[in-house]
Amino acid sequence: MSLQPELLRQSIAIAAEREPVITKRFYAIFFERYPQVRPLFSRNAPETQQEMLQATILAALDHLDDPDWLTTNVKALGRQHVAYGVTDEMYPWVGECLIAALAELCGDEWTPEHEASWAAVYGVLTDLALAGAAEARG
Ligand code: HEM
Repeated sequence: MSLQPELLRQSIAIAAEREPVITKRFYAIFFERYPQVRPLFSRNAPETQQEMLQATILAALDHLDDPDWLTTNVKALGRQHVAYGVTDEMYPWVGECLIAALAELCGDEWTPEHEASWAAVYGVLTDLALAGAAEARG
C-alpha cells in the first residue's frame, strides 16, 4: 500500500505555503479540463465550496486509521453527491485534477511517491463515496 500519511501531509504543507486554499487551484483546473461539470456547482459560493472540500480532505487525512469514521462520513458524502447530479465517472476526474493542483503547487518538491500516495488515498475515498452513491440509487 503506497498510502503514506507523512507524504500526504508534507505535500499539503508545501502546497499551502503557496496557496492556502489549495482547492481554489483544484477548481480552476477542474473547470478548465471538464467544463461540463460547472453547471452542477450552483448552490454554494465558490469560496465556500473550496473551503468545504479542503476541510473534508483534511478531516479524512486525520482519520486514515479510523475506518468507521471514514466509512460513515464518506459514504454519506457519496449519497449526497447523487442528489447534486454527480455520476460515478466523474470521480476519477476529481482525483486527476486534485493531484494536478497539488503537483503544480509543490513544483520541484513533488515526487512520484507523493503522486502514488495521493492516488491511493483518493482511491480509498472514491470507493467509499461510490458505495454510498450506489445505496442512494437503490
Ligand atoms: C471523494 C471525493 C469528493 C469529496 C471529498 C467531495 C467533497 C464535497 C463537499 C465537502 C461538499 C460540500 C457539500 C456537502 O457536504 O455535501 C461537496 C459538494 C459538491 N461536490 Fe463534491 N466531493 C467529492 C467528489 C465530487 C465529484 C467527483 C464531483 C463531480 C463533479 C463533485 C461535485 C460536487 C458538487 C456539484 C457539490 C455541490 C456544489 C454546490 O452545492 O454548489 N464532488 N463535495
